[in-house]
Amino acid sequence: MRILVTGGAGFIGSNFVRHILTAYPDDGVVVLDKLTYAGNVANLPPIAATPHLSFIQGDICDAEVVEHALTGCDAIVHFAAETHVDRSLLNAQDFIATNVQGTYTLLEAARKKDIQHFLYISTDEVYGNACSPEGVSRPSLETDTLRPLSPYAASKAGADMLAFSYWASYGLPVTITRCSNNYGPYQYPEKQLPLFIMNALEGRPLPIYGDGQHSRDWIHVCDHVEALAFILHQPAIRVAGEIFNIGAQEERSTLQNALTVLKILEKSDEQISFVQDRLGHVRRHAVDTTRIRLQLGWQSHISFTEGIRQTINWYQENTAWIESIKEKRNDFLNTALNLGVQRQ
Ligand SMILES: NC(=O)c1ccc[n+]([C@@H]2O[C@H](COP(=O)([O-])OP(=O)(O)OC[C@H]3O[C@@H](n4cnc5c(N)ncnc54)[C@H](O)[C@@H]3O)[C@@H](O)[C@H]2O)c1
Repeated sequence: MRILVTGGAGFIGSNFVRHILTAYPDDGVVVLDKLTYAGNVANLPPIAATPHLSFIQGDICDAEVVEHALTGCDAIVHFAAETHVDRSLLNAQDFIATNVQGTYTLLEAARKKDIQHFLYISTDEVYGNACSPEGVSRPSLETDTLRPLSPYAASKAGADMLAFSYWASYGLPVTITRCSNNYGPYQYPEKQLPLFIMNALEGRPLPIYGDGQHSRDWIHVCDHVEALAFILHQPAIRVAGEIFNIGAQEERSTLQNALTVLKILEKSDEQISFVQDRLGHVRRHAVDTTRIRLQLGWQSHISFTEGIRQTINWYQENTAWIESIKEKRNDFLNTALNLGVQRQ
């Protein structure tokens, strides 16, 4: 199978590419990535030296670029997106362009090119707070109404529904996945766990929104990409028009995560710093994964205890990767990392 992977130079996309190249050696991968602040070719194996991997720098909103990239491909795995909730609260423009218009451009091209499988990587953020229709807190089901609470989540929900409509209207073999929060190697350090790890290692405060009790279900990125590759390699007839939650049943609060990182690194809890809560902050994200377990027989296998130690080791060992990101002097990242504010 030849797969177009959009956003393949980002965190989850690059882990997915690596997984495909090792677990499915007969497959070919074409990465299409704009290389925004979050994209980094250093996340991928060396392109020139990796058979079965090619790279195109380009924007998914550009129909010509997309059609060219799709030539000879059988499937699309669509990760490319603006992904940070906090950035979407400051300015949602790029989120609407890439996440909604970009997905539309890809769906149209897929329709023209008769693509055999379109895997849309949605998110559990589309559900808003995990609860029953009566408002009782419980993990979200694929059938729940979407109630996104941030511009990021709303743009993903729009694209999620658009993708579904291309299956319903045109029979395009679309599958949608809604995964919970990922962590692991190559995650851009504006996101919670790498930010906590870097600040803990470098002696800066770990910022905790509000009371720190907001909880998420944390899945290791290797589990997530394994599930995606597994779905992609099912006969399309089995998964087309389906929506699957993906999660690890590892619900943890922000405060718990910060304390865990500090404990593993043998740092003081005094590095915890409570800050003003995020606007529209979802109290609980959690997904019910019964459908993927019963219908496809897939479940996660990396525990948080094991995954977080492995992730911390990765950030400790890959200092050149971290330094190359810091060198780009991204203003938002510098503020998030509180660079320059050293604690004793
Ligand atoms: N990180 C999570 O916890 C999580 C959980 C569930 C779902 N998701 C979804 O998974 C996908 C990947 O997330 P991530 O955390 O790896 O994101 P990321 O921010 O690390 O990477 C996004 C990638 O998309 C590329 N990109 C952005 N705009 C583009 C455009 N217009 N054209 C081409 N490429 C563009 C960037 O350069 C980058 O390489 C997203 O769709 C996200 O919504 C993420």
